Amino acid sequence: MSKLLVIEVSPRFEFSVSRALAARFVENWKAAHPQGEVVSRDLATMNLPFVDLPWIGGAFSPPEQHTEEHLDAISLSNELIAELQSASDIVIATPMYNFTVPAVLKAYVDQIIRPGVTVSATYEGLVTGKTATVIVVTGGDFRPGAPFAAANAVGPYLQQALGFIGITDLDIVLACRTRMVDEGEVTITEFIVEHEEMIAAAAVRSFSPVAA
Ligand SMILES: Cc1cc2nc3c(=O)[nH]c(=O)nc-3n(C[C@H](O)[C@H](O)[C@H](O)COP(=O)(O)O)c2cc1C
Repeated sequence: MSKLLVIEVSPRFEFSVSRALAARFVENWKAAHPQGEVVSRDLATMNLPFVDLPWIGGAFSPPEQHTEEHLDAISLSNELIAELQSASDIVIATPMYNFTVPAVLKAYVDQIIRPGVTVSATYEGLVTGKTATVIVVTGGDFRPGAPFAAANAVGPYLQQALGFIGITDLDIVLACRTRMVDEGEVTITEFIVEHEEMIAAAAVRSFSPVAA
């Protein structure tokens, strides 16, 4: 059965443009997958830990050497990886913070890249057969051709990190200039409508004809 994992990042909740766009993505995905399941992972509400010494000890040693401390440190990572592996489609809706991903999303990526679990000893990605869409929302203008387009590290970073673990079928949807919403030039509804077609196309691109 098709399963969509929705990863949300913004701490602005009802004011968040990335969350509003993710909701549109989910609506369109559901329409294309009436029997499909949607699972939500909200990084803004879960106090994701950073990698620490016990985590590294657990992640970089064989299971037979794991101590209780190691097992405890990597248990969330195991849970997040199982959730990721069980999804057929993944959508990540994220703001740009200081040209790259918010720290919580970096912390999530650090939890899901695990030698021997999501990437093999010979650097083969082990999270395969999935489609992924990243919705990147920015205050400024990073559209191709814009003066600061090359400063956008969000898409390239996620493409590299997710590709490393085998998630190579990746679409990046860029929704720029939310500053116009903050400054009252357009309403959030107008902004969403402007990007609706792009979001719908990305959601339908995720449609898998062999699944539900
Ligand atoms: C801490 C912080 C850093 C930000 N850094 C950037 C940035 O580097 N470039 C940019 O264009 N917008 C930046 N923004 C603006 C956000 O990307 C923009 O407000 C976006 O709409 C936030 O997503 P959200 O509406 O889903 O919360 C930043 C916002 C915050 C709060």
